[in-house]
Amino acid sequence: MNVKIAPSILAADFGRLAEEVRAAEEAGADWIHVDVMDGHFVPNLTFGPVVVSAVRKATRLPVDVHLMIEAPERYLDAFADAGADLLTVHQETCPHLHRTVERIRELGARPGVTVNPATPVETLTEIVPYVDLLLVMSVNPGFGGQSFIPASTEKLHRARGLLETLGRAGAELQVDGGVDGSNAARIVRAGATVLVAGSAVFRHPEGVKAAVMGLREAARSGTPGTRTA
Ligand code: DX5
Ligand code: ZN
Repeated sequence: MNVKIAPSILAADFGRLAEEVRAAEEAGADWIHVDVMDGHFVPNLTFGPVVVSAVRKATRLPVDVHLMIEAPERYLDAFADAGADLLTVHQETCPHLHRTVERIRELGARPGVTVNPATPVETLTEIVPYVDLLLVMSVNPGFGGQSFIPASTEKLHRARGLLETLGRAGAELQVDGGVDGSNAARIVRAGATVLVAGSAVFRHPEGVKAAVMGLREAARSGTPGTRTA
């Protein structure tokens, strides 16, 4: 199994955004993760469709958009038009989650769903058959640079179990928040297939290339059936 690395541009230098995105692509990243925050669902404000469109122009990689906004259904068209390949919404923001997920698919994007650290992943049981990606938040969303919440590893195990039980073993299991070289192997061993990393990529002392290579090596050592580092 090939684990994907999705650098989060939240930790990038915004003055050189296109350059940073290209550096991540050249370093071997698989997706570019874009964190959209509205100052309501989460306490921070970041960016909207205009920035997604700038990222889209800077790379050929899939653009993975994480919507930390209330009533995300209001903006799905705008983000799809801006070039989002994946659109992930929080269960906590969607009273009509099935409708929202179906709309994302209608718009030609791949739907993902996620939950905050305090929300059980089992609350996604009914929607899992309809999505391409399940994201386990390993920090409380809103800021980069936070520490990985240790209980997230156990939650990832349960998420993996849910995907298998529901016949969705091929869907992506993503983890986001505090991911770095020290925990990547453990996270992959728990069943994750996509690692989001912001600080660990764009603030790595040896640069983006060393960061992505380091994460990939750590992920490989956690992949069942491969040698352990
Ligand atoms: C947190 C965001 C994350 C964030 C991760 O709300 O969803 O994607 O950018 O940043 P790090 O890797 O620094 O924890
Ligand atoms: Zn994110």
